[in-house]
Amino acid sequence: MCGIVAYLGERDAYPILINGLKRLEYRGYDSAGVALLHDGALIVHKCQGKVSDLEAHVNGASVKGNLGMGHTRWATHGAPNDVNAHPHQSTSGDLALIHNGIIENYAPIKAELAQRGHTFRSETDTEVLVHLIDDIQRTEGVDLAEAVRLALASVVGAYAIVVIDRKAPNVMVAARKSSPLVIGIGDGEHFCASDATPIVEHTKNVVYLEDGEIAVIDRHHGLKIRNVKNQEKTPFITELEMHLEALEKGGYDHFMLKEIHEQPRSVRDSMRGRLNLAKGEVVLGGILEYEQKFVNAKRILIVGCGTSWHAGLVGEYLLEDLARIPVEVEYASEFRYRNPIVNEDDIVIAISQSGETADTLAAIELAKGRGATIIGICNVVGSSIARVTHAGSYTHAGPEIGVASTKAFTAQVTVLTLMALMIGHKKGTIGGSSFHRLLNELEAIPDKVQKVLGTEAQIRYIADIYKDATNALYLGRGYSFPVALEGALKLKEISYIHAEGYPAAEMKHGPIALIDEEMPVFVIATKGASYEKVVSNIQEVKARKGKIIAIVTEGDTVVKGLADHTIEIPETSDPLVPLLSVVPLQLLSYHIAVMRGCNVDQPRNLAKSVTVE
Ligand code: G6P
Repeated sequence: MCGIVAYLGERDAYPILINGLKRLEYRGYDSAGVALLHDGALIVHKCQGKVSDLEAHVNGASVKGNLGMGHTRWATHGAPNDVNAHPHQSTSGDLALIHNGIIENYAPIKAELAQRGHTFRSETDTEVLVHLIDDIQRTEGVDLAEAVRLALASVVGAYAIVVIDRKAPNVMVAARKSSPLVIGIGDGEHFCASDATPIVEHTKNVVYLEDGEIAVIDRHHGLKIRNVKNQEKTPFITELEMHLEALEKGGYDHFMLKEIHEQPRSVRDSMRGRLNLAKGEVVLGGILEYEQKFVNAKRILIVGCGTSWHAGLVGEYLLEDLARIPVEVEYASEFRYRNPIVNEDDIVIAISQSGETADTLAAIELAKGRGATIIGICNVVGSSIARVTHAGSYTHAGPEIGVASTKAFTAQVTVLTLMALMIGHKKGTIGGSSFHRLLNELEAIPDKVQKVLGTEAQIRYIADIYKDATNALYLGRGYSFPVALEGALKLKEISYIHAEGYPAAEMKHGPIALIDEEMPVFVIATKGASYEKVVSNIQEVKARKGKIIAIVTEGDTVVKGLADHTIEIPETSDPLVPLLSVVPLQLLSYHIAVMRGCNVDQPRNLAKSVTVE
């Protein structure tokens, strides 16, 4: 939520900031703005809309300066308009600040500052912070860095901020608490950003700022870090493994389509070095140390949000089925506020693509505080969740930029499958022959995903028929139930068609009342444990004139005889079906959204990295 980028060096900051903002736009796109320091003047341009609107708004005005900052906003406090756009300035106009997060106690601070003569232009919580820093700077007679430190000591909430001061043209100050901030160290230049994507084309050397740390970047003295208690910290420089091509569309119309098509590779990358057919073993190096703890575990809790929560549901089925460990899957936002029972011998698996989701982070802190072992499944290397967990396994899906999650889901399910296989094998809850059969089938999944992608033309044809629907139902049983939820989520988030996912049998307890000839019902009806039951559910829909679009196993004839449309996927064992059956549902949502003229990569009101609760 909100992307921030800043530059201090010898080059023109503006193109670096604009390019950086475009990379960060997945974090929010309600408004955008830049501030640049040049020749003793602080110039701010900002407006409602996307980064392209900001470029149009600037339209030839002065954008000189080699110290500057940029922001792309997902509105929390105050409407997404020009005034509420960042950067925000102090009354004198000397200070400019960009912020990602929420200042929770902004109201009392604002009231006190107003009494002291500060006037506020916007409705944002952020503007309060820049006034507070300015107030401290003037009343205490301290420099910018010290004023930021003192101000942050009285702030409650989450923030990643960058502040610049017209009177200090060689300095930028950045700080973080609960919202991510990365500092790039180049040759005579420094960058700050919400993630590494704006930085990677300039330098591979980065420092991930820790919670409570303040970075002071000085043109002549480089980077110094201290914490809010004023203790000096040694910057820990790490090298980025990210590649620039992974951040480009690579010939596809949208990032989402590119990411759907990357799945054969991303699933394979998530298994690489972990699944060894020759030796007949699965080794997740990151959690090996905790293998025995898993074997002895009486219970596993899985926490996540959105698509990651759906992957967690698949994880529940996998871990219970293959490793025979009781699993509870929790929305992180509910878990953290409902005083849950967490024991010291519990294992909590936190799933997050971004590794920055505020609710998931808070759920981890709660469970950690109660002594549980926390295992992360994250995609973004070095992210907050990856760092606060005791151990974990990265998904290796590569950067996911489309706001609707696709390849991250299949990568998460791949890692959960490997985890369940590894623990089940160790515990002896999967027989040797089943274990080896599943290993072989898992190894074959990337090629089968590729085959599913070959049905895209047929999916586009089906999308055209149902693109004007106002409601849709998604049904599945067993391993396909979480996929039904995920299919419905994909459709609603990018095409704005109301969609519900249901366990197929539950349809009778309510949703069946909605079925008429206008209602498309997407059913996952692959061969497996509940095939016959799902066929009966399809009959129930047909009896009420609903339209059936079924995902079936290659060679199926029964469902083909009943459904209006079928999409075939290759045969595989039940636990691996989600890795295949979700792909046509992703493609269907994508094509329906494109046909409806929706912005698939940046759907309205959404953001990819939800760093507010
Ligand atoms: C947002 C995104 C979803 C994502 C969810 C959880 O809602 O739009 O795509 O599934 O956050 O994000 P995480 O990064 O924790 O997986």
